[in-house]
Amino acid sequence: MEEADFAAHLTATMTGSALTMLIGLGHRTGLLEAAARGPATSAGLAERAGLQERYVREWLGAMVTGGIFTLDAGEYTFPPEHAKFLLGDTAANLMPSLLTLSAFTGILPDLERAFAAGGGVPRAAYGPYLETLGAKTGDSWKHIYREHLVDGFFGAVPGLTERLTAGARVLDLGCGAGNAIAVAARAFPASRFTGIDINERVIDQAKETTSGLPNVEFAVGDAAELTGDYDVITAFDAVHDQDRPDVVLRRVHGALREDGLFFMVDTNFSSDVAKNVGNPLAALCYSISLMYCTTTSLAEGGAALGAMWGTETAREMLADAGFRHVDVLESPRPQNCVYACRP
Ligand SMILES: C[S@@+](CC[C@H](N)C(=O)[O-])C[C@H]1O[C@@H](n2cnc3c(N)ncnc32)[C@H](O)[C@@H]1O
Repeated sequence: MEEADFAAHLTATMTGSALTMLIGLGHRTGLLEAAARGPATSAGLAERAGLQERYVREWLGAMVTGGIFTLDAGEYTFPPEHAKFLLGDTAANLMPSLLTLSAFTGILPDLERAFAAGGGVPRAAYGPYLETLGAKTGDSWKHIYREHLVDGFFGAVPGLTERLTAGARVLDLGCGAGNAIAVAARAFPASRFTGIDINERVIDQAKETTSGLPNVEFAVGDAAELTGDYDVITAFDAVHDQDRPDVVLRRVHGALREDGLFFMVDTNFSSDVAKNVGNPLAALCYSISLMYCTTTSLAEGGAALGAMWGTETAREMLADAGFRHVDVLESPRPQNCVYACRP
């Protein structure tokens, strides 16, 4: 990159960071919701949102010059084709991820200390920052499952939909708030779904998310101690954060029937950083991996695979765990792939 190009690149990087903060502020103050109701002057929008005009005007300046809003004859517009990425109950809405990213600034001092002293930042340390910023980390995935789980993710694996329709014993490992199971249990009433997670609080949420569904059950449990005889084991974004991923994968292999399937959704990158250069999603994913996945694992003395462990390492670890056939398939999201693993 030429010097001048690099300077421009760095300025754009700082602009992105500043806009991320101000978009989060727009969410919390209600400005984004208010602006989505139609074009307005700064005074009109301030009145609509019940806020101070002077602040709103400066915020609008950033929004319009930052390409989020448009400006015409003194009126600011939040175009619907932009608003759908920051508002609403759809998978397109990036707000949950944006707020989560902002929350990481709270743990930066601890992370910096860990660079020198070792160890890591424990998961519990993130809670207050996520709560202050109103970030609900599961929300993005909730919408993604609703829109893409059945046709997109399950549909990527030949024969899986038919097996679930006929009726299968399914375990979801690291089920979190039960968002995937809620969709799957409704779509496949003849199958029976068990969710396990090490975190008691999310298991309570999962029970709430799926209340009334007759074919689900949940348990607090450690995937590193998994046993059973399942037709299908699923893991959505739940393997690379494991403290002992090698043990977990061996347990998964051992808890499947001979004709079983391990269905793993994880990140879609190379294990070789050089091969990720030019991938537009890689820098963001390395950053999240550093600020959450890697450090939370190190805090527990874990393997710290990180979110960028990559398909090559994943294949090696799956083979070491005993899986003889592993297909890596495209998913509806470019940053994720689907591993279809057979014992
Ligand atoms: C990134 S979240 C994904 C949650 C859920 N699968 C989803 O897609 O919404 C990873 C989950 O794995 C759980 N987890 C981490 N280590 C675990 C372990 N050893 N056994 C069971 N669950 C674990 C965490 O508590 C967390 O809920």
